This record gives sequence, C-alpha cells and structure tokens, in this order.
Amino acid sequence: MKQFTRGAIVLAMAVAALAGLFAALVPLSNSLIEQWARRDVELRSELVFNSIRDRVERELAGQTQELIPFFQRLTTDERIMALGLCDAEGRITVATPRMPRDLDCRIPPAAGASESAARFTRVRIAGERVLIGVFPIAAAGQSAHLVILHELGFVADRIVEARWYLMMVGLALLLLVGAVTTLMVGLLQRRYMRAVLSSIQDLKAGRPARSRSVMDPRVQEESREIRGLLRDFREKIRQEDGTPVEWSPSTLQDLLEKELPDAEVFVVSNREPYIHNRDGDHIVVQRPASGLVSALEPVMRACGGVWVAHGSGSADRDTVDREDHVAVPPAKPAYRLRRIWITDEEQEGYYYGLSNEGLWPLCHLAYVRPIFRDSDWQQYVAINQRFADAVVREATRPDPIIMVQDYHFALLPRMIREQLPKATILTFWHIPWPNAEAFGICPWKEEIIAGLLGSTVLGFHTQAYCNNFFETVDRFMESRIDREHRSVVFGGEETMVRPYPISIEWPPAALLSQQPVEACRRAVRERYGLSPDMKVGVGIERFDYTKGILDRLLAIDELLTRQPEWKGRFTFIQIVAPTRSKLASYTALQEDAVRITAEVNARHGSEGYQPIHLVIRHHEPEDVYELFRAADICVVSSLHDGMNLVAKEFVAARDDEQGTLVLSRFAGASSELSEALIINPYDVQGMAEAIGRALVMPEAEQRERMRLMRSHVRERNVYRWAGQILLDASRLRKRQRVQEFANGD
Ligand code: F6P
Repeated sequence: MKQFTRGAIVLAMAVAALAGLFAALVPLSNSLIEQWARRDVELRSELVFNSIRDRVERELAGQTQELIPFFQRLTTDERIMALGLCDAEGRITVATPRMPRDLDCRIPPAAGASESAARFTRVRIAGERVLIGVFPIAAAGQSAHLVILHELGFVADRIVEARWYLMMVGLALLLLVGAVTTLMVGLLQRRYMRAVLSSIQDLKAGRPARSRSVMDPRVQEESREIRGLLRDFREKIRQEDGTPVEWSPSTLQDLLEKELPDAEVFVVSNREPYIHNRDGDHIVVQRPASGLVSALEPVMRACGGVWVAHGSGSADRDTVDREDHVAVPPAKPAYRLRRIWITDEEQEGYYYGLSNEGLWPLCHLAYVRPIFRDSDWQQYVAINQRFADAVVREATRPDPIIMVQDYHFALLPRMIREQLPKATILTFWHIPWPNAEAFGICPWKEEIIAGLLGSTVLGFHTQAYCNNFFETVDRFMESRIDREHRSVVFGGEETMVRPYPISIEWPPAALLSQQPVEACRRAVRERYGLSPDMKVGVGIERFDYTKGILDRLLAIDELLTRQPEWKGRFTFIQIVAPTRSKLASYTALQEDAVRITAEVNARHGSEGYQPIHLVIRHHEPEDVYELFRAADICVVSSLHDGMNLVAKEFVAARDDEQGTLVLSRFAGASSELSEALIINPYDVQGMAEAIGRALVMPEAEQRERMRLMRSHVRERNVYRWAGQILLDASRLRKRQRVQEFANGD
C-alpha cells in the first residue's frame, strides 16, 4: 500500500508544482507581453516617423496645415490613433481629429537619452491606454515635434490571449502528468498484486518465500507480512477447531482417548524401528538411519499399537515370539513390532527393484533414470499383499486405524480396504510426488494411483506435492477431484489429500543424554584430531544420490580454492550411512565420493590438516546429536528431498542457539526453516559462498536465526504431525458413523 500512497503524493506534488508554476508565470508573462508590445509600438512609431520625416520637414517652413490630409491617411492604420505637430512651446499646431487639443508635448527625454532622441510615454485618454511618441524635428530654422498617438488596447487582448494559451498548456501538461502517473501507479499496483498473489500461492503450495533476487525487497517485506498473517490465521482456525498448540506424547495420547477411543492403531512400513543383528555371540539392537523411523517411533511410543515391518536384521527371527512379535523399545516396551519375512529374491524385486530403482528415482528429480522391470512389479504386488494380509490378521476390530508409510506400499491401502472396508487408512508418502508428466512414464501408474486411493486420508509433506498428485490423478484416472474439499472420489470412495509436514520428537530423546555443547565440541575435535579452535562443518545422511553429497564436497573444494585462508582452519565431517549398496547408482556414488574426497584432501590438505573426513558408517542417534552439537555449521544439500529431518534434528540439537544451517531449497524442510541459509545445490559456487558466510556469521545472528527455527520445530513437532492426521481421521470416522445411521446400517 505504501507504493500507492507514494504514487498519490507524487501526483499531488506534481499538480501543486504545476499550479505554483502557473501562478508565477502569469504576472511574468503579463509584464513580458506588455514590454514586447510597447517596444513593438515604439518601433512602429519610429518607423512611421522615419518614413514621413522628410515630407514633414519640407512642409515645416510653409503651410503645415497641408499635412493634415496626409496625417489622416496614416491614421487609417488601426493602431495609430492620431498624428500632429507641436511647436517649440509644446502646443499642438496641426493634428488629426482624435488628437486631444490640450496635449502637452513637453515630455522629458528618458534618463541618459539626448534631447534629439524620440520620447515615449503612456497615458489614458478617454479611458483608453495610449502611447505617445514625440519626435523632435528641425528644418529651415524651425523646430517642432511630431506627435504620434498609438492605441494600446490590443496589448490587453494579447495578455488575455497569452494567459489562455498558458492555461491550455498547463492543462495539457497536467493531463499528461496525470496520465503517466496513473499508468505508473497502475503498473506498480499490478506488479504488487501479482507479487502478493504469487506469495499466497507459494504459501498454499508450500513453496519457500521468494528470494530477494527475484522480488523487490519492499514487496518481499509485505509478502512476508501476508504470509505471516495467513499462517497465523490458519493456526487460529486450527486452534478454534480444538487442536492443542503444545504437542507432546501426552496430548497425542489424550487426543486418541478423546477422539478415537478404543482405536486399534497400526503402523506399516518397510523399515523396522529396531533391528536385531548378530555380532559374534551377541545380539545387538540397531536403530536404522531413516527419517521415517525417527518420526514415527516416538509416535508409536506415545500411542502404543502394532508396527508391522520387514524383519531385516540377522538376529530378528531369534528375537520374535511365535506370532513374529517383539515388544519394543527393548529397554522400556511401549508397543509391539510385528515382523514380516521376505526372501532375498523377493527383496531384489520389491525393495531394490521396483521401490528403489523404479519409484525412488521416479519421484526424486535427481536425474537418475528409473528402471521398471515386470518381474520387480510382480514381487512388489506380492509383498504388498503379504503385508495387507498380515495387518488384516493382526486386526481384532473391523475398523482399525492403519497408518501406511511410504512408496514401498502404494498398493496396500486398496488391498486392506478390500478386506476391512471400515478401516481408517491413513497413508503418508514420505518422498516427493513429481508432476504428472514425470510420473506418467511409470508403466503401472494407474495401479499405483488406484492403490493409494484406497486410503481414507493420503498425506504428503507439502501442498506442492498434493497439487502434483491431483494433477496426476486428473491426467490418468477416471475420477472426480473436489479441490475445495481437497479430495478425490474414485470408484465411489473418497480420499482426502492433505499436506502434513513431518517433523521430529521434541525434545529429541537422543538429546537428553548429551553433554554440554563445550564438552561435545572438545570430544569431537579430539576424536578427529582437530585443534580446539578448528571450525567444523557436518553433513549426516544415508549414502544416497538425492542428498547432493558430491556437490557438497565440490563446494568445499571451491571454498578452499577461493578463500584459502580457511585452509587449516575449517574441516568438514561427512558422515554417511551405507544404504542400498547393491544398486549400481549407489556404489557409483560411493566411489565418486571417496575419489573426490581424496582429491580435495590432496589439493588443500597439509601435514596434520585434512579438509574432509568422509566417514562411511552407521551412527546411532546419540553420536549424531553429539556431532550436531560440536559443529559450527550443518550442510543439507539435497537435490530433491520430501522433507529432510536431518535439518530439523540439527536445529533441535542446538539448545545453545548457535550454529548455522545451510539448507537446499529443494528439500521440503526449506519451506519451514526459512531462517537457514537457503542454497541451490546445483550451484556449487553459490553453496561455497553460503558455507563461507555461515563460517563468519556473528553469534547474535546465529542466535536469532536458530531461535526462530527452534521455536518452529518445537511447535510443529512430530506429535503435532501425527495429531493432525489422527484428528482428520477422527472427523472422517464420525462423519462415516453419521452416514451409517442415515443408511440404517
Ligand atoms: O525418505 C523416505 C524414506 O522412507 C526415509 O524415511 C528413509 O530414510 C528412506 O526413505 C528409506 O531408506 P531405506 O531404504 O534405507 O529404508
């Protein structure tokens, strides 16, 4: 709005300036015209005098009366009123009729002029303005004066005319200024409205706020205000809906008790939350490096229930009961893990093949070609059916709540729905959903979409992914999309499609056992042989090509090349958990990362200084949190990522409110953690600059940014994520019950 006010002020100022100019110009133009006219008349007078002088001088000695008809002929010029002669005493001796008889010709010469120069004066005669020109003449010993009277009435006419022209020009100028200003204000308004609209659309689609480079900083400021207001508004509506604000395990438990009493809760995922592995004679429990597991495990601890997952550990079979159940967490059981067994051959097709060589690259735009094999698809269908049957067998009620997780189980919702029509099936897709064109290359797109539309609620991390899903359904399925209610009706059944940005538990369990930050800094620096004042950057993730690890290593190379002063003062610790190592795209990535690390270390390292520490080993959450606390910066440079919980974990780990997060704009987390240094991971130089900037960021700025991000993650924790889904589920169950009453079921 400031721009419109400014526009109006500029217009008012222009009008005022024009009015002032006009007021100043009118008297000036009057006096100029007066002067020009007078000079003009004087020149005419002199011209007349010079042209008749000889004749008058000739007549002076004789019959001067003879001059009268001659003078009268001259007065036919409309501006010459009268002509006459004066004697030496100033009396009129000869004159045309309109010459006043009492006119005194003794007009003193102008200052500095000679006696023989022409003299002019202005008088009023019978109300008329008149210029009197007196010209000395001398001939034949006689001296006299020729007197010429000019009417000056035309001067007033000229002044009026000039004023009229001035007014017209002023008006035209005013109209021009007005038109230009209106046009400019209109353009500004359109630009402003477009910026505001796109800002709202970005918020709606879950995209991050635009950067300064693409938006006028003032518009950006206002767009930020609007986004803030809309968020508050949305929050208010949620609060009025009865959604608690402080989400914790107990609020989630209360919600379940209040909204979904006696509900039987299941989680289904491929990855299990606790893996039992054989280590010599011992059995060790491992918690996998999985965003899905870190998000859902605390939810299950809070809600209880059954988690159905693939038993992948070497000692998993040894630790289950006859029903393939094991109570977890091992130290303090809160729910049951039901393990499903999959043979190596099945795993090849279902997990490595269709899930990770097909759907994973299909949904992540990281420029790795998806591979679709019919044999993989057959295994995928069979394993989905196995999990569906297991859930149905586990259910003791006809209407359980089943939380289906991820792209490994696209067919599961429909398979369960066919056997348990009253089940509430809440499916969450943990990875991005690409646009329709990209998804369209999948040979089994219709089957996958139909499978997902067996869900009661289908969740994605962001609105943008929901929109892509709607677009895909629209393109490939016979269905009805209700955008207002954000649902799809397919085969007579409705599926709600909503964004639920996933998060982490707050406070994270792994944080509780941590040493103070100073102790973590010391411990990590000692472990890696670093000096106490060495700046440390960390990257922690699965060894996946979507994470942008190679680009990150190249950015460190770029930083040390462009800013060599960091050599010996900055080290990057890259922790990578091996994953899907059987796949060529993953082994190639590992080889490349090892090679680039060696090259960078050779190029910039020196005795006692290793720029990059590449550690390829699984780390337990406590070790990860210690590293986060020891670091000065954390880099998350995913090429494409549904959410990325590492970014949120780093923020959660920093209760000292220090440390800087460098975050990819292509990770879903960037739409929430806008106080991170947002980067384009494809722009290695830009990433290097951001890392350089993070390394010198003042403590006060780090604190300010970290504080905002921490309060966001605290409020929007994983209990809230689960709570929102369960609240939607409860509403739908109630609605379904009312429908059943109405149908008399
Ligand atoms: O990103 C989605 C996700 O399911 C994560 O939760 C998890 O980190 C990963 O994909 C799956 O990894 P994995 O194949 O090792 O189970």
